[in-house]
Amino acid sequence: MPKLPANPIADLTDRFFYRANIRLKLFYAMLALIVVLIVAINGAGHYIFTRDFLGYLNEQAQQRMEDMVPRVEQAYREHGSWEFIRGNPRTWFELMKPAIVEHNGAAPAPGPILTPSDLTGATLRFSLLDANRKFVIGYPNVGPDARLRPLLQDDTIVGWIAQTPFENVIGAVDLRFQQSQFLAQIIIAVVAIMLAAFMVVRISGVLMKPLARVARATHRLAGGDYAIRVEVESGDEVGRLAQDFNQLAMTLERNEKLRREFMADVSHELRTPLGILNGQLEALEDGVLQPDEQTIRSLKSEVDHLNKLVGDLYDLSLADAGALAYRKADIDLAPLLRDAVQIYEERFRKRGLALTAHLPGTMPAHADGARLQQLFNNLFENSLRYTDRDGRMELHCRLDQQQWILRFDDSEPGVDAAALARLFERFFRVEASRNRASGGAGLGLAICRRIVEAHQGTISAQASPLGGLRVTVTLPAGFADQKGQP
Ligand SMILES: Nc1ncnc2c1ncn2[C@@H]1O[C@H](COP(=O)(O)OP(=O)(O)OP(=O)(O)O)[C@@H](O)[C@H]1O
Ligand SMILES: [Mg+2]
Repeated sequence: MPKLPANPIADLTDRFFYRANIRLKLFYAMLALIVVLIVAINGAGHYIFTRDFLGYLNEQAQQRMEDMVPRVEQAYREHGSWEFIRGNPRTWFELMKPAIVEHNGAAPAPGPILTPSDLTGATLRFSLLDANRKFVIGYPNVGPDARLRPLLQDDTIVGWIAQTPFENVIGAVDLRFQQSQFLAQIIIAVVAIMLAAFMVVRISGVLMKPLARVARATHRLAGGDYAIRVEVESGDEVGRLAQDFNQLAMTLERNEKLRREFMADVSHELRTPLGILNGQLEALEDGVLQPDEQTIRSLKSEVDHLNKLVGDLYDLSLADAGALAYRKADIDLAPLLRDAVQIYEERFRKRGLALTAHLPGTMPAHADGARLQQLFNNLFENSLRYTDRDGRMELHCRLDQQQWILRFDDSEPGVDAAALARLFERFFRVEASRNRASGGAGLGLAICRRIVEAHQGTISAQASPLGGLRVTVTLPAGFADQKGQP
């Protein structure tokens, strides 16, 4: 036995509306519009008919009633009572007939004279009542809403003419009116529905085709085809959707490329020192190399290199995941920098490089001292590595608009303009082969950028007036509770 739906109404709406395609929904909307229009037109027609046409009929009848009053009064005067007319419809109709009017002296038209009130049957709704409002002749069902007109004889009321209004008979007239309209309405409705179906097919064709294209492309994108693009054919919503889709596909494609490059870079960077280590160990095994101090130092340096690389990669991946922990405190950057300068001075001197620093007395900031030390070390290390002998490095610090501006300048070689913007990318190195000899993996500045950004600062690279590279770092000045007031 088929299972009955728990809620048949909900089941029907689900089947016929939510799961219906857009074409069907459009059709439903048009259908609803047609029904509303037909009902509205019908209602308006009915209202106007009742108000204007019935008003007109009642007015005609009223006039006709006034017209006959003198004749009925005259007849009463002649007979002295209403007995002459009781049970005598002929006389009553004679009295109701309009007076023959002469138009500009011309003879009246032969035959009965018909007025609109005759045509509408108004006179059939007239009744004659005696002074006590008792029925004498005419329309027998005088309702409580009938309009009464007194008949006078020497200022005393001798009877009434009652007119039962048209509102009471409207049902019959209305029915005829509606019946005549019904067929026309059915024809209009059928034509309108056919027209709606045709338009829905056309409109949905125009609307759905580009949408279907985007939908197909999305399906392929979801399947990993990042090179897919859709043609932008219009400036409307669907066109914008296509544009955004292309943007999304481009971003995904770029990210996928970056991911592949990153994996390739990481494995390459790891393979090189591992290969060197392996080669040296094999040479030791074969007795080609002696396990002396120099060999051990060389092995240790490759292990150090691997260590640093894995450590940097770890830091970067933590920073990317937003999980690199920062322990910020109110600290003075001046002693931190002075210590770093002191540590590097000796190494700079050994390479024939002069290192000078121009620092304010105190540099309050809310920062993670250990991470900033890592930042400064990276920058000093770079200048040490990538500055030709007999050059120099200068560090300048100043306060500008509640920001510490730190400028690290060194002498030649510099970095060409195209490479400047890319220095902070992971694994980016200028002349990779040259730097491989000096041991860099291209992660240092990428880490620097993450550290600075975690302090709501900025880092950028420019050409230095000293001939080499200038790295500019900005960091918010001031302690946590008095930001900007060092
Ligand atoms: N002071 C500098 N002068 C000239 N070139 C520099 C300087 N600092 C960095 N560069 C260039 O920028 C590249 C990227 O520097 P980065 O510190 O990110 O990596 P690295 O020093 O090569 O490796 P790592 O820092 O990971 O050991 C360097 O390889 C070098 O080519
Ligand atoms: Mg470096």
